[in-house]
Formats: sequence, C-alpha cells, structure tokens
Amino acid sequence: MEAALNEQINAEFESAYLYLSMATWFEEKNLEGMANWMMIQFKEEQTHALKFYAYVVERGGRVTLKAIRGPQTEWKSVLDVFEETLKHEHLVTSLINNLVDLAIKEKDHATNNMLQWFVAEQVEEEANAERIISMMKLIGDNVQGLFMLDRELASRVFVDATQAAN
Ligand code: FEO
Repeated sequence: MEAALNEQINAEFESAYLYLSMATWFEEKNLEGMANWMMIQFKEEQTHALKFYAYVVERGGRVTLKAIRGPQTEWKSVLDVFEETLKHEHLVTSLINNLVDLAIKEKDHATNNMLQWFVAEQVEEEANAERIISMMKLIGDNVQGLFMLDRELASRVFVDATQAAN
C-alpha cells in the first residue's frame, strides 16, 4: 500500500505539471481566464500530492519522490485542451479506484477511508471539465462566446479543499 501511495504522489505531481503546461499554452494565446483556471488546477493537484504525503508520514511510512515526466506542451485547440483534461481526470479516477481496490484487498480500512475523499473529489473534477467542454461545444466558432467563457473562468479562485475537509 505504501508503494502504491508513493506512486500516487508522483501521479498527482505529474498532473500538476500537465496543468501548468496547459496554463502556459493559454497564456501564450492571451486567454487569461483559462490560464487562471489551469493555474488553480495546478495548485489543487499539488494539494492532492501533499494530502497523500501527509497521510504516508502520519502512518509512519516513508515518502520517496520520483522523477516527474515532462508534460505535453502543444494542443490542437482550446477544446482539445479541455478534452485532454477530462481524459486525464478519467485516468486519475482509475488510479484512485485501483488504490481503493488494493486497500480493500489488504483490509486497510484507514487508507480506504482516506481515499474516499479522493473518490468524491474525482466526481467533481470530471464534472468541472465536462461542464466546460459542453459550453465550448455550444460556443463553437463564436469568438465572442469564447471570450465570455474566458472571462467566467477568470473568476475561479483557489481553495485548498484538502484543508477544508480536515
Ligand atoms: Fe488530483 Fe485532478 O486529480
């Protein structure tokens, strides 16, 4: 279980790095609201990694950090970025589900309990990306619509939900 949690710490940092890469892509296109949304996503992923970190330490385990792979740096379109975001969150959900499966198999109830926070978080993560993708599909090629959505995403503020839950 400890090794699997360490893998997840790495996966959360890789997620953070991917979203930071997406933020830079939006910055270059002057879509500052979308860059802001991705920057908050970057910060959230770091809090996820740190929640796992704190748990491993609390249980008397050892955190071993691994190399973070270089993220994708180019996307075909604004829609493509958010579709990749959703795809990535589906992957993270499967990783979390695998951790739950392992915790159940090992009768590790405490870890299973901690993981339930992430199970709920993944529902929200997927819903957020799905909502933006739906709006983008409605907007289509309408530039004005794109700027309105960008303005809306500029209003997202960072909240450390891992702390609020404690
Ligand atoms: Fe840490 Fe976006 O899941």
